[in-house]
Amino acid sequence: MSLPFPVLTAEEAASLIQDGQTVGFSGFTPAGAAKAIPRAIARKAEAEHASGRPFQIGVLTGASTGPSLDGALAKAEAISFRTPYQADPLLRSQINSGKVRFVDMHLSLLPQFVRYGFLGKVHWAIIEACDVSSGGGIVLTSSVGVSNTYLNEAERVLIEINAAHPAALLGMHDIFEPQDPPTRQELPVYQVRDRVGSPVCVIDPKKIAGIVFTDEPDETAPFSPGTETTERIGQNVANFLVAEMRAGRVPKSFLPLQSGVGDIANSVLCALGSDPDVPDWDMYTEVLQDSVVPLLEAGRVKFASTCALTLSPEMARRVYSGLDFFRRRIVMRPQEISNHPEIVRRLGIVSMNTAIEIDLGGNVNSTHVMGRQMMNGIGGSGDFTRNAYISIFSCPSTQKGGKISTIVPLCSHIDHSEHSVQVVVTENGVADLRGKDPHERARLIIENCAHPEFREQLRDYLKQLKAGHELLSLRLAFAMHQKFVREGDMRGVEWGELIGV
Ligand code: COA
Repeated sequence: MSLPFPVLTAEEAASLIQDGQTVGFSGFTPAGAAKAIPRAIARKAEAEHASGRPFQIGVLTGASTGPSLDGALAKAEAISFRTPYQADPLLRSQINSGKVRFVDMHLSLLPQFVRYGFLGKVHWAIIEACDVSSGGGIVLTSSVGVSNTYLNEAERVLIEINAAHPAALLGMHDIFEPQDPPTRQELPVYQVRDRVGSPVCVIDPKKIAGIVFTDEPDETAPFSPGTETTERIGQNVANFLVAEMRAGRVPKSFLPLQSGVGDIANSVLCALGSDPDVPDWDMYTEVLQDSVVPLLEAGRVKFASTCALTLSPEMARRVYSGLDFFRRRIVMRPQEISNHPEIVRRLGIVSMNTAIEIDLGGNVNSTHVMGRQMMNGIGGSGDFTRNAYISIFSCPSTQKGGKISTIVPLCSHIDHSEHSVQVVVTENGVADLRGKDPHERARLIIENCAHPEFREQLRDYLKQLKAGHELLSLRLAFAMHQKFVREGDMRGVEWGELIGV
């Protein structure tokens, strides 16, 4: 390939990044994340620190990334600021100890925050691509995330051309960026498969400071087969959706599905795929995991719109060797579009996300353990939940060997309010909260979803409450959390004793 851009080593590229700068990286999950340059920036940070000089950067991405980006930079203590989402254990501990400033954001909002200048100047875009043209056309790899916006907004651009992603990915992306208010028009996605933009990002080639050639697959964790609990949750969600269809509340042609990441999402999709009563369906989602590939091959999923292909290396090879087939069935969009509230509401998406805890009013905590410790972030769950045709949250009814009930009197942090959460699912059953008042909600959640070992305790909580529209005791609402923090176990709260405390 002969290109009019300097070919750099990762070290040479990293040497251009200065202390205090803000970098917008490609990557939405480990899919499509820049790898070689962030590792080299981490080495530069370590060398600078060893020489007694400060070196930290602000890190913007699409969502979480992989070990070569968040992992390496966190290890080098090279991150001062991070948004919008992360899932790296070391970075998480730096956020929770106050070493890294982290802003937890709705993913769909980040691109316009960048354009509006709310996050300050973006000095560099460091973007993984599978192909670049001399005129500044860039073919992204296994995700779009915020790459298109970073490419447009950053002062300078560095590109990793990764041979592990074939240039034949051209045509899988649909790059579209809305105008800014007050002249923004409707986003013309009327059906899941509509393409409304360009297959490539196009920038002024003069902005490209250099390219780095790499050859390494995405650092995606292998597919996990799930557990009995996640399978029961998956079956409960599938049964609920079939019943909705039979009742005429979901059309016979079905509705597009959004599903989160992780074992529960995989189990839900597998359960739907193997249920003969569920018609073939479309996905309009932000992440496609391994489980969707066989469903696409079997025709159970007809078309998938996503922001990222978060596939294990084996599954990525399977997709890349059948690109003619998959290009007609998958489109990758910027997260501003894959998660856009307008489109979610218009298409009537059924959203399916995972909770850390759910309270008796139907509020959901997706982000903070015991109210204080950040797990990953809200991600796209709020983008979809608030605007879904039906919004579903699921989780196992207990955590940590049964010592934690995920059904609690009041969530210790609230990401999704009772006004947005419609259906709650655990391995024990389904609580359909639509049209229910707070008293009905609480009873449904306890009887259908709470673990049997916690039901009596939660019923007893309700008995302590004085009349009111909401079921809340200011004194008792966090007693189960407090007991866990004190004793490592939520079981055995004596409400009567606490009333007098
Ligand atoms: N109290 C304490 N710890 C809890 C907990 C609770 N109520 N609920 C979960 N945890 C812990 C688990 O024990 C587990 O800990 P471990 O890593 O030490 O084993 C960890 O949190 C992850 O829980 P797990 O049951 O494995 O679920 P998951 O991997 O499916 O993650 C979320 C669940 C909520 C953290 C994850 O879905 C998330 O980050 N969601 C927000 C983003 C989102 O929804 N995005 C949209 C779709 S991509």
